[in-house]
Amino acid sequence: MKIGIDKMAFATTDEYIDLRELARKRGDEPDKYTIGIGQDRQAVVPASQDIVTLGASAAEKLLTDDDKKHLSTIIVATESGIDNSKASAIYVKHLLGLDDFVRTVELKEACYSATAGIQFAKGLVTMDPQSAVLVIASDIARYGLETSGEVTQGAGAVAMLITANPHVLALEDTTVSYTKDLMDFWRPLYATEAHVDGKYSTNVYIEFFLQCWQRYRQLTGRQLADFAALAFHLPFTKMGKKALEGLLQDDHSLIAEKMREQLTASQKYCREVGNLYTGSLYLGLMSLLQNGQVKAGDRIGLFSYGSGAEGEFYSGILQAGFEKYLSNVKAELADRHQVSIEEYERQFNSQLGMNSDDIKLDWEKDPAPFVLKGQKNYKRF
Ligand code: HMG
Repeated sequence: MKIGIDKMAFATTDEYIDLRELARKRGDEPDKYTIGIGQDRQAVVPASQDIVTLGASAAEKLLTDDDKKHLSTIIVATESGIDNSKASAIYVKHLLGLDDFVRTVELKEACYSATAGIQFAKGLVTMDPQSAVLVIASDIARYGLETSGEVTQGAGAVAMLITANPHVLALEDTTVSYTKDLMDFWRPLYATEAHVDGKYSTNVYIEFFLQCWQRYRQLTGRQLADFAALAFHLPFTKMGKKALEGLLQDDHSLIAEKMREQLTASQKYCREVGNLYTGSLYLGLMSLLQNGQVKAGDRIGLFSYGSGAEGEFYSGILQAGFEKYLSNVKAELADRHQVSIEEYERQFNSQLGMNSDDIKLDWEKDPAPFVLKGQKNYKRF
């Protein structure tokens, strides 16, 4: 029985900054941001958005009434959740008006946990092939104003429906997970911004990718030529390039060049929004499917990475007609408007974060289908 991703949809905020402007404001060369890091724009998050509203907006785009009837479980993968106890999946379930007879849970392991969510969903659908599982990867990536990580911030959510006989990607059985206890990036419970050992984190990422890839090759006997493309977790687009070049080294064969071209296609959307943490690999996959040279029957490799750290390499086969089961990301990105760096800084500092005061937010201007209106008695509305 084939099990995998049946549909995918993406949501982000309706505002962004141009990173050339940010570079000038921070006294950096614009080329450092657009070429050295590989990012052009970054999503700006108004206080009226959090991972619940973003996740619900993405999920609303893909669920039909029929899907809702078959939904057994909602998994929200996030590392920027709003509560240390209650699962954000419960809020999402409420906002989407879903049946009470549904299981809801939140998963965490930095940027990796949506991949765990997909593997768990595959297990649930194996046990009940009529059922569907909604996996939502939703995050707001914050490092702080005037930090070296600032250029790699971002925000957004990818929602995926996992079913039998999927329309997008049928998952193959061999997956390789690799975990080590290390400190490349972390965010203690009291902190609203991440701490990071930036250069170290990029080296660990590459090492984990190569470890997973070698083991996958040993287990399956597959070579690079058996893949149409590889999709990577993209904290910034240059990271995908560093990982791929770590594998290709100086190879300029036809296959190596094809992999480089497909990587560029997978990076297109990340360049526009920044790091989505849990959702970045899956937005990269959507970008590949909507901008790359891929067709039904092709094998796609996926490398998922979460700091702390855990990596996983797995693969899937593209299904006929997959194009029709992806939300229109180009239109979503084109529909946003640019804000100034001053406005971005104001909004950055006005996010609710760990603030426990009673607050009424100025949410009327936010055109998103779901908005955060404020907070009272430690409860969000
Ligand atoms: P930095 O110190 O600002 O940058 O930090 P740099 O000085 O290393 O420069 C970056 C690149 O720009 C270099 O290229 C420069 O040569 C180049 P590279 O050597 O890396 O190829 N450069 C220029 N290029 C063209 N024209 C110029 C120019 N000037 C310089 N004029 C860093 C960069 C990414 C470390 C920082 O932004 C950071 O710490 N970001 C956050 C951490 C991160 O994203 N790590 C990625 C791996 S870990 C991961 O993926 C997990 C994560 O998503 C979180 C999770 O799992 O939860 C982060």
